[in-house]
Amino acid sequence: MMKILGIETSCDECSAAVVEDGRTILSNEVATQIELHKPYNGVVPEIASRLHTEWISEVVNRALDAAGVSLDDISGIAVTNRPGLVGSLLVGLNFAKALAYSRDIPFVGIDHIRAHLYAPHLEFDITYPFLGVLVSGGHTVISKVTGFDEMEVMGTTIDDAIGEAFDKIAKHYQMGFPGGVVVDRLAQKGDPDTYRFPDPSLHKGDHQFDVSYSGLKTAVINQSDQFYSGSGEKSLENIAASFQKAAVEILMKRIRKALETTGLTRVVAGGGVAANSLLRSELKSLDAEVIFPSLKLCTDNGAMIAGIGYQYLKAGKRDSYDLQAFPRVEAFKRSYPV
Ligand code: KG4
Ligand code: ZN
Repeated sequence: MMKILGIETSCDECSAAVVEDGRTILSNEVATQIELHKPYNGVVPEIASRLHTEWISEVVNRALDAAGVSLDDISGIAVTNRPGLVGSLLVGLNFAKALAYSRDIPFVGIDHIRAHLYAPHLEFDITYPFLGVLVSGGHTVISKVTGFDEMEVMGTTIDDAIGEAFDKIAKHYQMGFPGGVVVDRLAQKGDPDTYRFPDPSLHKGDHQFDVSYSGLKTAVINQSDQFYSGSGEKSLENIAASFQKAAVEILMKRIRKALETTGLTRVVAGGGVAANSLLRSELKSLDAEVIFPSLKLCTDNGAMIAGIGYQYLKAGKRDSYDLQAFPRVEAFKRSYPV
């Protein structure tokens, strides 16, 4: 039995968890900073890193207490070191290094994107290969996943991430924060066919599975002249519903095509936007086995870090104390050029 402590501070959730053998969650403490970023309608990096510094020690202690363990029971420490806000990443990384050094516990740095795709393994028995759909505030990645560490990117965003589009539109129309959740809620009361928003064509060559959300975001924001002039439609619910329909359809088109091209029959979704109700129902309607984590494991959490960390540590991977934090990940290998 290996109990791994996972630490996640890449953005605005300060989280720590204890997971046994990469599968069983013994604790998963998530201290969200949402209320403290609300006045700014977005995450303020300086505030995020300062709050992580203030909270990390208590969050880790709470995770150990809730799991009913002490550091003596911990066989390894896993910590997100990429990608993310570098000031925030550094807090978790340095805390993990200090803890590992003081107790001589092996530690390993984790790629946040791979961890999101590992999250469903904490709740379901999943066999490889599958089509991985990672949709979050910072990333939109469609990939062929053949192992916990093996993924070939088929498509990604060429500009904004899908979650960023939700967040920016909510901010522009002052719908509230965090954007994804409020757009999702408003959209449920709106008519999705009020506006027709564009899906930029990236159907050719290397870009056939890529998505673009910058144009959609601009089109939705440009709608505000008509919106505020009083001449046209003035319902936030209808704006939200029309935007959400377009945003989800952009993604679904690529997912259908990717399933067709690869012959894969399983889809695993992860990341904050995988909590979106329309995306979830559209994914369920695919002619494939579709798996997504529960809402708590969709958004950032330490359990997914501890879970995938176990796999690396079990395979003998160790990082040294000079491990750095990286705001971005290396360019992913593309595998399906035309
Ligand atoms: O995975 P996550 O917690 O952090 C990143 O790694 O980025 O994802 C956060 C993103 C935000 O953009 C948030 O607006 C979005 O996930 N999100 C949603 C929903 N819940 C969270 N987007 C659409 N619908 C939702 N229900
Ligand atoms: Zn995330």
